[in-house]
Amino acid sequence: MNSIVLTHHSDYSLITINRPQALNALNAEVFSELDSVFSGPLPETSRLLVITGSGEKAFAAGADITEFSDLSGPAARELSRRGQIIFDKLSTLSIPTLALVHGYALGGGLELALACQIRVVTKKAVMGLPELNLALIPGYGGTQRMASLIGKGKAIYYTLTSENMDAETAVQAGLADFVVEDQDAGVAFIEKFAKKLSFKSAVSIGLALSAIEQSGTAGGFEKESDNFQKAFETEDMKEGVGAFLEKRKPVFKHR
Ligand code: CAA
Repeated sequence: MNSIVLTHHSDYSLITINRPQALNALNAEVFSELDSVFSGPLPETSRLLVITGSGEKAFAAGADITEFSDLSGPAARELSRRGQIIFDKLSTLSIPTLALVHGYALGGGLELALACQIRVVTKKAVMGLPELNLALIPGYGGTQRMASLIGKGKAIYYTLTSENMDAETAVQAGLADFVVEDQDAGVAFIEKFAKKLSFKSAVSIGLALSAIEQSGTAGGFEKESDNFQKAFETEDMKEGVGAFLEKRKPVFKHR
């Protein structure tokens, strides 16, 4: 891999977008490397997939604008669909995904963070959709995910004005979930979270995630019951309930 770095830690895996000279702008190479990570297995010990950007200045400052100049309309549509499909893979992984955002998360960079299930932002985070400054619109899911997170009215305001949000505003609006002081505090947050996940059954984590993923949709409650049944039928559930009744700690086998 050339434009992203994938590292595995005791309870989580970390993708670092590694183009600091271009503020981690998402070019075709970043997309194919992300796609290969989202399509392949992670170590069984990884309970969380974290995405961040290298350097001090940016999570990712958007799609790589230098790739836009020679693009035809139909090719631009393809680019948008490819980005959406890869980000959809990310948003439906069976382990939780977390964006650690410091500095700029703009345009396609914010859309990548929005495709993660949780956003932890440092106090220096700057988040926005500046595409309309280029007479473009968001193309990697931003028109859809922003509205479902912060409501249509605010999504329209921020998309049409290209106004950025700071960390506090993003959390108040619902665009981000947790604010931490700086990148080190972000890593401490991630380590603690991943450790908590390591004590759970990976199967029940996957089942909870796929049900929550459908919250707000017509089939959401049905999905919850389907997954409740699936959880009930696991060995881990018998172990979890048995351990509670025997007043001991459960040992899950993740099946
Ligand atoms: N694409 C390509 N290169 C980028 C980039 C991007 N999105 N953002 C920054 N860079 C490059 C700059 O061109 C510059 O390169 P050089 O040193 O070779 O000139 C380098 O990164 C550093 O950037 P700046 O000098 O501009 O840094 P700054 O601190 O002055 O400004 C910034 C920072 C406000 C984030 C500014 O870089 C900026 O506005 N970037 C573009 C943001 C943007 O419009 N993003 C949306 C892209 S469109 C999109 O994402 C479409 C979609 O949804 C699919």
